[in-house]
Amino acid sequence: MTTSSLFFDVEEIRKDFPILNRKVNGQPLVYFDNAATSQKPQQVIDAIVNYYQNYNANIHRGVHALSQEATESYENARKTLQKHFNAPKVEDIILTSGTTHAINLVASGYTKFLKTGDEIIVSALEHHSNIVPWQMLCERTGSTLKVIPMAQDGTLKFSAFTQLLNDNTKLVFVNHVSNTLGTINPIKKMIDATHRYGAKILIDGAQACSHVKVDVQALDVDYYVTSAHKMCGPTGVGLLYGKTKLLETLPPYQGGGEMISEVTFEKTTYADLPHKFEAGTPNICGGIAFGAAVDYLNHIGLDEIAAYENDLLIYATEQLIKIEGLRIYGPTQDKTAVISFNVENIHPYDLGVLLDKMGIAVRTGQHCTQPIMDFYSIPGTVRASFAFYNTKTEIDLFVTAVKKAVMMLA
Ligand code: ALA
Repeated sequence: MTTSSLFFDVEEIRKDFPILNRKVNGQPLVYFDNAATSQKPQQVIDAIVNYYQNYNANIHRGVHALSQEATESYENARKTLQKHFNAPKVEDIILTSGTTHAINLVASGYTKFLKTGDEIIVSALEHHSNIVPWQMLCERTGSTLKVIPMAQDGTLKFSAFTQLLNDNTKLVFVNHVSNTLGTINPIKKMIDATHRYGAKILIDGAQACSHVKVDVQALDVDYYVTSAHKMCGPTGVGLLYGKTKLLETLPPYQGGGEMISEVTFEKTTYADLPHKFEAGTPNICGGIAFGAAVDYLNHIGLDEIAAYENDLLIYATEQLIKIEGLRIYGPTQDKTAVISFNVENIHPYDLGVLLDKMGIAVRTGQHCTQPIMDFYSIPGTVRASFAFYNTKTEIDLFVTAVKKAVMMLA
């Protein structure tokens, strides 16, 4: 046990998560699908209930008390996010419906700026949501998509990346952490290398923000996107951080109420940031709960979370690799607490179904990363992803269950 575990009172933390008390198929729930979505603490559930019970109203529109309370609460959440990500201005935080929405917003905006011959770089480790919008952008503009290759250990080939960069490179897209393998990419080095060619870079932080403290100014990143639901917040809300000057030049993504300054049939002018990108009634409750989730994570401490989860990762890895025929995909260092694996001659789906019968939730399949599966020539993996409310006892149950399932399927 490392020092971090000694001071991390996981049993106290677990009391915040009511769902962890439930049973699945008659067994205590072991929730190891945190990379798909995290569980929600009572503090976030309370923020949601409080909004609907006490001050549900539309925002930015009403002179009445409820509307003003809701507006203040929503905008306070934006300030919490600004502070958490160290964005220079509160207007730099655009609230979206999630990471995918944020990526599409940027991809749509660049239609205006790209032309044939321009080049866009993505990495081989990307989620489909950070591949397809850029392919669609290439189709619209005649630009070319280039791919940073990956290595067997699940890392990106950095030297290959620097060779892809050239004066035609306009945009680079890479995830901070791979959802499938847990690889933590060297994003600071990638941002600096991208900027040497005058290109812009977007980092998909969906899998990073519940494990790693992100400082957008220290990173000097152009765009950073993430989702609340991976960070103990609700689904249906996320954010786009962008440098002010870039967001100012990017055209609006959707038209509608709230994103305008003046509307006539001859011409419409747009609202200032952040509202230019927030057409329509937003996910008000979601935004407020996103702020509550970030407060909750900060109360525990992201450094403490990262250290504790790393203990879980090492503990689980040491036990799993002893199982005959089990192969873990991805690196052993510089990764978050994600273990993607297969057992020889067993389909990941079959293993996942048996684990579920034993109360253990994992994800199986391609994890929206078909290129990674193609790279390893496999149909999919079993993915166990840990959070700070998981325990070594749960890992013991999981390892025992994997061994049992393997015996049943062999
Ligand atoms: N992107 C989420 C995952 O990796 C859904 O499971």
